Amino acid sequence: MTTIIPKVNTGIQQLDEMLFGGLYQGSATLLEGAAGTGKTNLGVQFLMEGMQKGESALIVTFEEYPEQYYSCALELGWDLKAMEEKGLLELIFTTPENFMQMVDEDDQTLSQIIEEKDIKRALIDSVTHFEKLAPDQGNLRHIETNVVNFFKREEITTLLLKENKSILGGWNVSNNKVSFIVDCYIILRYLELESEIKRAIMVLKMRGSNHQKEIRQYEITDKGIVVGEIFKGISGIFLGTGRPSEKK
Ligand SMILES: Nc1ncnc2c1ncn2[C@@H]1O[C@H](COP(=O)(O)OP(=O)(O)OP(=O)(O)O)[C@@H](O)[C@H]1O
Ligand SMILES: [Mg+2]
Repeated sequence: MTTIIPKVNTGIQQLDEMLFGGLYQGSATLLEGAAGTGKTNLGVQFLMEGMQKGESALIVTFEEYPEQYYSCALELGWDLKAMEEKGLLELIFTTPENFMQMVDEDDQTLSQIIEEKDIKRALIDSVTHFEKLAPDQGNLRHIETNVVNFFKREEITTLLLKENKSILGGWNVSNNKVSFIVDCYIILRYLELESEIKRAIMVLKMRGSNHQKEIRQYEITDKGIVVGEIFKGISGIFLGTGRPSEKK
């Protein structure tokens, strides 16, 4: 008998619509974007959605001290400290080296935390840091596969953040192998349009499900990320230089 895997809400209603109902429970999603596009905010919003329903969450960060993480989240109204005090949040601030040991099958530390806290959602901020551990692309893919498989084994719905170096202009695809390993791939982009920098979100792939192919605008507000209208009649968004499509 085949069982239908349920979908979980992302915490952003319009993104759930783009994903035809949300992310598959227990799946791994890559969220890629340039610095400041809102990757961490979107990730925290996704965890808050679960924690508000009583589902525990895990943050693994290699770059920001917990206090800094908490204060950025509080800017958008998310009290992570309170969630931690309620026992709903586990934040691990570590090095990529240590983390790789934690996901090793012989090391049960992380599995035990996951079991004790009954963790359902995780945020890895960011997988870009694994590049330091890998001498070449083959090695990097091996590391990323280990991480993705660890969370899939644990049946945790996971968001893996990845930095993209291109702020505007052509998308940097040189080291994008992790997109093949994950189930879902979402991109955040800056877009220069009519002398303004806009933000664009798109779902590039979703295994086992249809999804909207449109590119939508989004904004970061003091209540979090809000996804808005489809960019209509604009082409070149992927190149970072949107311009009205030529009428035929
Ligand atoms: N209260 C706020 N209201 C509106 N926008 C905000 C607010 N707080 C932060 N932002 C926006 O959020 C952006 C940072 O978002 P976030 O930290 O999620 O980005 P990121 O993609 O994780 O960046 P990095 O690659 O540096 O980690 C800021 O550049 C700013 O534009
Ligand atoms: Mg960030």
